[in-house]
Amino acid sequence: MTRVSLPKRVDGHDRPPAIIAPSILSSDFARLADECKRMVDMGADWLHVDVMDGHFVPNLTLGAPIVASLRKHTAAFLDCHLMTTSPELWVKDFAKAGADMVTFHLEAAAGPGPDDWHSLRPDEAHPAVVDMCHGVRAAGLHVGLALRPATPVELAMPYIEQGLVDMVLVMTVEPGFGGQSFMPDKAAKAAVLRKKFPDLLIQVDGGLAPSTIDRAAAAGANVIVAGSAIFGAPDPGVVIRQLRNSVTAAATSGKAPH
Ligand code: DX5
Ligand code: ZN
Repeated sequence: MTRVSLPKRVDGHDRPPAIIAPSILSSDFARLADECKRMVDMGADWLHVDVMDGHFVPNLTLGAPIVASLRKHTAAFLDCHLMTTSPELWVKDFAKAGADMVTFHLEAAAGPGPDDWHSLRPDEAHPAVVDMCHGVRAAGLHVGLALRPATPVELAMPYIEQGLVDMVLVMTVEPGFGGQSFMPDKAAKAAVLRKKFPDLLIQVDGGLAPSTIDRAAAAGANVIVAGSAIFGAPDPGVVIRQLRNSVTAAATSGKAPH
């Protein structure tokens, strides 16, 4: 059983509700519990936890022990984005730590080598990726599947069609660091997914801010990660509201995702 259920799409909306997930990568790590409480008090729906291993991405951040410590201080939904090779090694630790969702990279689950993902096909589920999805669910967690900017969105289709994933994360920057510029052309990947899957959670991550949210919202994204734009704002609550309003307006606009 998962700890918290996921919100569902309602009539008159073309996607599930807006979920705003501040990335704690941009917080003051020495004051993490307070930073998380501050975000929840200001209207955050989820907290996005960026896990980097120095192999899949050229940066090191945090792991399951920090999530376990954090869980003692917050009831918030902890959305853990694993930017690691061999993500299957960490699922049980994150479940035990109190994570709610584990999002792993399709490229990493396809094999340990940096180029192993070239063996993935749009019309065939890769056994290692299927095993990973089952493993995350068996650990009692929601399943997210992340795509690097260069990874074709079609490669995610077999897993969505088989009902193996709850969310697809479309990266709108190269994973590894906060504070990079939004890649607007990558939003088109969200539109491809939204046209086929009205009920899927579609997350965008990287460079989201009041100045870029409208593009992602028009493409059909509903789960919005933002690090520097929220934590760097004089009033994070204002930014959280702006992001949410943009998604909700697009969801009820009657315009096809594009
Ligand atoms: C990048 C991370 C993001 C990052 C977003 O690898 O996955 O979650 O924290 O930060 P901003 O919103 O500053 O681009
Ligand atoms: Zn992230």
